[in-house]
Amino acid sequence: METIYTPDQNELRRISELPTEPALRQAAAFLADLARDRTFQVALILPLIQEAEGEKDWYVACRYQAEDGAFSPKVFVWPSGTGTRIHDHSSWGVYCCASGAVLEERYERFDDGSHSDHARLKKVWQLWWSPEDGASTVLPADDGIHRVGNPGDETAVSVHLYGPSVSEVDGRDYDPSRDHVCDRQEGGEEKVPDQFKDLLED
Ligand SMILES: [Fe+2]
Repeated sequence: METIYTPDQNELRRISELPTEPALRQAAAFLADLARDRTFQVALILPLIQEAEGEKDWYVACRYQAEDGAFSPKVFVWPSGTGTRIHDHSSWGVYCCASGAVLEERYERFDDGSHSDHARLKKVWQLWWSPEDGASTVLPADDGIHRVGNPGDETAVSVHLYGPSVSEVDGRDYDPSRDHVCDRQEGGEEKVPDQFKDLLED
């Protein structure tokens, strides 16, 4: 059996324990290196691209969560024409495209947050992220409202790292057509290939 890339759990933990700014910086460097790693590409990314053929929606192909919730690496697969809702996270997050490209739209709130299910959004930027572009970073909650998708023709795969959660919920989903925000319900099908369990579990 060929040797496959094994992310350093100690390194992920060390990053997750840093203050947010250096954590984001070092997580971005970690993921950019991982996304470029030839062994990781061959062992995981290429099989995922093949596996994604015929998939109609984006999905989390691989995920790991530290027992104490301090860090969570994930791999997302984005078939052509798929994308998330507008959402935020209860932790900082960093992601880097490992194949193809994704389009990220970033939003800010301009309501005062005084109504629990009400949020008015304005779009502040959108950027394409491909492997050469390095990693995108989000802060928790209102400071990281975004939508990620793949309007292109080729399947994209991205590697993500999320830090410690600052809230009970996973994050929030936004519906700007009615200025609405609500806590996100965890769930949905997850496919966890066996080889990725080897890559990410202790
Ligand atoms: Fe996100």
